[in-house]
Amino acid sequence: MTETKNSDMGALLRDKAQLVDSMLKTLLTEQTKIDPSLKQAMSYSLFAPGKRIRSALVLWCCEVVSSSINRNAEIAAAAIEMVHTYSLIHDDLPAMDDDDFRRGQPTCHKAFDEATAILAGDGLLTFAFKALSTHVAEPNLVIRLIGQLAEAAGPAGMIAGQIADLNAERTTPSIETLEGIHINKTAKMFQCASAMGAICGGANDRQLMCLREYGLKIGLGYQIADDILDVSASSEQLGKTAGKDSKAGKATYPALIGMGKSKQIAEKLAHEAVATLGLFGEEADPLRQLAIALVKRTK
Ligand code: IPE
Ligand code: IPE
Ligand code: MG
Ligand code: MG
Ligand code: MG
Repeated sequence: MTETKNSDMGALLRDKAQLVDSMLKTLLTEQTKIDPSLKQAMSYSLFAPGKRIRSALVLWCCEVVSSSINRNAEIAAAAIEMVHTYSLIHDDLPAMDDDDFRRGQPTCHKAFDEATAILAGDGLLTFAFKALSTHVAEPNLVIRLIGQLAEAAGPAGMIAGQIADLNAERTTPSIETLEGIHINKTAKMFQCASAMGAICGGANDRQLMCLREYGLKIGLGYQIADDILDVSASSEQLGKTAGKDSKAGKATYPALIGMGKSKQIAEKLAHEAVATLGLFGEEADPLRQLAIALVKRTK
């Protein structure tokens, strides 16, 4: 594998982010029936500078199995970014994590109001499925992509993780329980991104299985890194308020097992993720580099 510095990874991600942003703009612009004030709130959160990691993962996984990015993968990437943005808007609400900043700007409910933020989230969630059903050409592909996204984002996936995360506040769960929360609330969406990309690229069963495993591992590592950064990074770096987890009594890896051990586990997961890619040649180098870069990230 050729070495890529974090800064190079940043450039590769920005390149993918541009594609995703342009697809998101196209999809939102052609839907003229959305109420203008609702569209404003949806766009406010969607086009704020997010890292676009899940959507980039869709595009990379499609590229790994088929050597190019196709339009279906671009639609899938835009759809997962909409669902992810919805999850952030709702995660920040007063009834949940009660956060004032996100993606370097006031949270949706601060910039607008709570009801608008709830509805902007609902709008993005449902619009993602509409985009998949309207713009992906083959019916069989539509069904598979919708199934993956609904499963990962739904009550046996991210929503299960989010309610368990809230219920675990000011408790000391076992490390196995915490791992389960992180897998549900975050890793399953990474797994889904890998799967959607692989499916759009026409992956065979073995390729799909490996890429799903890869996504789950980097996703768990990503959430552990998020817990670490909440302690060690600044609000300016993160674009969201740092130090919130300990104030809210969140169950996190650093709180449960300390910073050193948390970093070790995140690094181990990155190496395990790289090991899942043995089936692929150098076409999967960006995924190998992404796995390492994500746990070393500073924002
Ligand atoms: C934040 O996700 C929520 C977590 C699961 C940690 P990101 O760190 O990917 O947020 P954006 O999309 O870049 O804003
Ligand atoms: C959020 O986890 C996971 C989601 C499903 C949105 P966090 O609550 O730790 O994410 P941040 O730190 O607010 O971005
Ligand atoms: Mg949360
Ligand atoms: Mg939060
Ligand atoms: Mg966090």
